[in-house]
Amino acid sequence: MTLTEEIAQLHSELASITFTSPEEVEQYRIRYLSKKGQIPALFERFKEVTLEERKSIGKLINELKQLAEQLWKDAQEQFQAAETTSTSGLFDYSAPGWAMARGSRHPLSVVANEINAIFSRLGFTVAEGPEIEDDWHIFSALNFPEEHPARDMQDTFFVGQHPDMALRTHTSSVQIRMMESKTPPLRMIMPGRVYRNEAISARAHCFFHQVEGLDVDENVSFADLKQTLLTFSREMFGEDTKIRLRPSYFPFTEPSAEMDISCTVCKGAGCNICKYTGWVEILGCGMVHPNVMTNCGIDPEKYTGFAFGMGIERIAILKYQVKDLRLFSQNDMRFLKQFSTEW
Ligand code: DAH
Repeated sequence: MTLTEEIAQLHSELASITFTSPEEVEQYRIRYLSKKGQIPALFERFKEVTLEERKSIGKLINELKQLAEQLWKDAQEQFQAAETTSTSGLFDYSAPGWAMARGSRHPLSVVANEINAIFSRLGFTVAEGPEIEDDWHIFSALNFPEEHPARDMQDTFFVGQHPDMALRTHTSSVQIRMMESKTPPLRMIMPGRVYRNEAISARAHCFFHQVEGLDVDENVSFADLKQTLLTFSREMFGEDTKIRLRPSYFPFTEPSAEMDISCTVCKGAGCNICKYTGWVEILGCGMVHPNVMTNCGIDPEKYTGFAFGMGIERIAILKYQVKDLRLFSQNDMRFLKQFSTEW
């Protein structure tokens, strides 16, 4: 085949070429335009051309080369454009960002954090214990008699068929764990979730939260308990808050008391929150029973201690006047958003 014929053939070959993928474009480049490609090969054969033909054939080869390069450039552009259109839906770097909704702390976390902060300032540390507990830590070590109603299936969720394992009904179990594993002085609060077999209503739930408090040392007195709780109540509910202690009974404290604070809504004047008494109950407390100390290996002749336990929901209800306990576990954004400025 003469050089002119070959040029003509390549010309018609190029004219009929179409590309369906970037790979084909690259194959085309290798075949026609690369160093060992067909077009550079034509320049090699240019040496054979006679002087008279040089000008015209040189022109033909150059035109062919330009055409081949143009085709390659166009094809490249074609696939680059396709690539940007197909990915632009995913990566449009110039598009404005999504405004992210700001989260907020759950009101129970807000209250628990505040309780922790107040007691930290009074020298209490924070400790936690397991939610699935054995009978010893929930009841026996806390001096509950064998036939005590709290051990009943009606009140306690037992785990599987196991008679000894249950979901803790109060955080007092953590008191036991702490007294068993540490030596006095002990000054700690123990927040956590507790479970009771109750029908769910506006005033009761099958799970809720408590904070347990414990102070065991030499010469800890009931006066220390009272002063600690007064300081806590004033910091939590305001400087003008009053407290009162009423005698009560818990198996694990002696003497035992329940504590009321002056009503946070009517300030003692009487309203439906305090049932027109001016007082609302917020916690149980007392001096740690000597049997409990002994059960935990602490000498009750040497050490004394006070303990208290309060419901976090109860504190939150009084602080924010929440009317229905169920709101705390329903994840209703309209309720939760109201606490977005609290920490
Ligand atoms: N465990 C009690 C309850 O769940 C609350 C309580 C009362 C805790 C007196 C105490 C305490 O530590 O001394 O009702």
